[in-house]
Amino acid sequence: MAKQLKKWQGWLLFLGSMVIVFLLGLLVSSLMERRAEVASVFNNKRTVFEDPIVAQNEKFKADYPREYDTWAMTEDTSFESKYNGSEEVDVLEQRPEMVILWAGYAFSRNYNTPRGHKHALEDMRKILRTGNPGIDGDADMQPATCWTCKGPDVPRMMRELGNGKDQFEPANFYAKKWSELGAEEVNAIGCSDCHDARTMELRPARPALYEAFARRGQDLMKSTHQEMRSLVCAQCHVEYYFIKPNDPNNPDKPNYLMFPHDKGLTLEDAEAYYDEIGFYDYIHPLSKTPILKAQHPGWEMSQQGIHGQRGVSCADCHMPYMSEGGVKYSDHHIMSPLANIDRTCQTCHRQDAETLRQNVYERQDKCTEIRNRAEKELATAHIEAKFAIDNGATEAEMKPIQALLRKSQWRWDYAIASHGATFHAPQEVTRLLSLSVDFAQQARLAIAKVCAKHGFTGDIPLPDISTKAKAQQYIGLDMAKLEDKNQRFLDEIVPKWLEDARAKGKLMN
Ligand code: HEC
Ligand code: HEC
Ligand code: HEC
Ligand code: HEC
Repeated sequence: MAKQLKKWQGWLLFLGSMVIVFLLGLLVSSLMERRAEVASVFNNKRTVFEDPIVAQNEKFKADYPREYDTWAMTEDTSFESKYNGSEEVDVLEQRPEMVILWAGYAFSRNYNTPRGHKHALEDMRKILRTGNPGIDGDADMQPATCWTCKGPDVPRMMRELGNGKDQFEPANFYAKKWSELGAEEVNAIGCSDCHDARTMELRPARPALYEAFARRGQDLMKSTHQEMRSLVCAQCHVEYYFIKPNDPNNPDKPNYLMFPHDKGLTLEDAEAYYDEIGFYDYIHPLSKTPILKAQHPGWEMSQQGIHGQRGVSCADCHMPYMSEGGVKYSDHHIMSPLANIDRTCQTCHRQDAETLRQNVYERQDKCTEIRNRAEKELATAHIEAKFAIDNGATEAEMKPIQALLRKSQWRWDYAIASHGATFHAPQEVTRLLSLSVDFAQQARLAIAKVCAKHGFTGDIPLPDISTKAKAQQYIGLDMAKLEDKNQRFLDEIVPKWLEDARAKGKLMN
């Protein structure tokens, strides 16, 4: 009896488990179907852009939510490290000597530290370097070329003003005035600056980089994928200049954007290039030196450092991978890698986070020490040169001194304008700043000799430039007036630009 019952129980158990297996099977199969459905919904949902340039970043949000959301976080300005961070810092306030170094040039009015890409347009409109076209009848101070590194409306407008097919005939874009494109340049640095919207392959959107490669006999699009992970940054984080509107060799290319890379990527290569074409950005009003203003040769400088030389890309440190529910993607919140040492440095280095952070700070400390010396020495040299000129130094006497000042300032500016270079290439920064100090000191010695020749010995009197306000007053800037005009420009002109762009659907938020 007990045995039979057991047999009956056995069958029941068998049938029961069969039913359970069957039900589980059903469940799994329905789950699989759901997954396929989700996947196909996801695939179907994907907007297929037919245009490589789609300027409104919001149009990518639904299909690429992770990349979009992290990109949008470049709005955040809260991160701070020892020397950098995402907050805006008034550099002239911290280092008033720079007002003297850039006297006669718009940078002496206003210069801030960089912050996240989403701020690029607002920061440009409010900087005191573009003038305030339209206020009190003021004209533009800058050409449209100044918009070039500020967002995906740039390739869009280059195409529209050029041959209508692609953005590679940008001469008409560069020839416009800055304010003429105010209502067009409305979407900040985004997807179409780095990606072909049709495929989302990496594709730099600025012709100047392609042109610079071509002049060196290289095809940019034949670069490796790893190189592309830096070249999308190199289209903006580079040294550049504009062809002067009165350049007899380029009458049809006023304000055309150029990278001085023809002879190579070092400071000396760019200097030889500029010397050959007799280029200068401005004549320094104190020392009368023809100055080369360095822009931000971040890419070139990073190639001089060990990470660049080992093929580590900008994206490896500034756009580390993240994962979410098994999906691996690139963090588009481009910022200081020190905010996420676990996802940046530690993917390659075994040291603990604090050691790695200190490695960065130690290099930055050393560069900063010599940088401060260079700024003092060079600012003093410009002021002393003015004294020599005022006391009878001749043009012939000043010429070799001005050559030294040009070399000194080019090295200082190149080193400090390459954001991040105190870590990317600390030895190169130290070399350039040491040379800057040396050339400035040679200039000061030569000035002392010239002054002695004209009957003056002793210490040349120096003005008080201990604050930004005092330095700006010394070089004759009326900051209150400039600031007032800029406020009116932001209140009266800019809102019209944005309203216009919204009405035409160019700006979606
Ligand atoms: C400054 C350049 C830059 C900008 C701006 C940018 N991306 Fe990327 N994006 C990259 C790089 C670099 C990668 C890594 C590509 C690789 O190695 O294959 C990447 C990867 C991607 C990928 C591939 C998957 C992944 O996450 O690695 C997608 C999709 C993508 N980006 C979408 C977007 C969208 C959408 C936007 C605008 C909201 C955007 N990107 C803005 C540079 C950029
Ligand atoms: C279209 C031009 C452009 C491209 C492409 C571009 N940048 Fe930038 N980048 C800028 C500008 C302009 C700023 C300064 C924005 C501001 O201060 O308002 C900036 C700022 C930054 C900052 C400072 C952010 C902070 O929070 O302090 C970093 C870091 C940076 N860029 C890295 C990169 C990297 C890495 C790439 C490539 C993956 C890249 N950029 C591509 C133009 C560009
Ligand atoms: C993609 C890999 C990679 C990432 C990410 C990376 N490194 Fe490196 N790092 C290297 C390589 C490769 C070298 C050269 C070492 C060698 O070849 O022996 C190096 C060298 C160094 C050195 C020695 C350089 C010198 O001065 O001689 C330091 C310090 C360093 N890395 C710190 C960092 C820090 C800090 C970060 C994050 C901000 C970082 N690394 C991110 C690969 C990486
Ligand atoms: C090995 C890692 C590494 C690589 C590769 C790298 N960077 Fe950096 N970058 C850093 C670190 C670390 C800092 C300093 C951050 C700080 O002080 O908070 C920095 C700083 C910067 C800054 C200044 C940010 C600020 O707020 O002032 C910019 C801009 C920048 N990098 C752009 C680039 C570009 C463009 C490339 C490629 C050409 C690149 N970086 C390659 C690690 C890297």
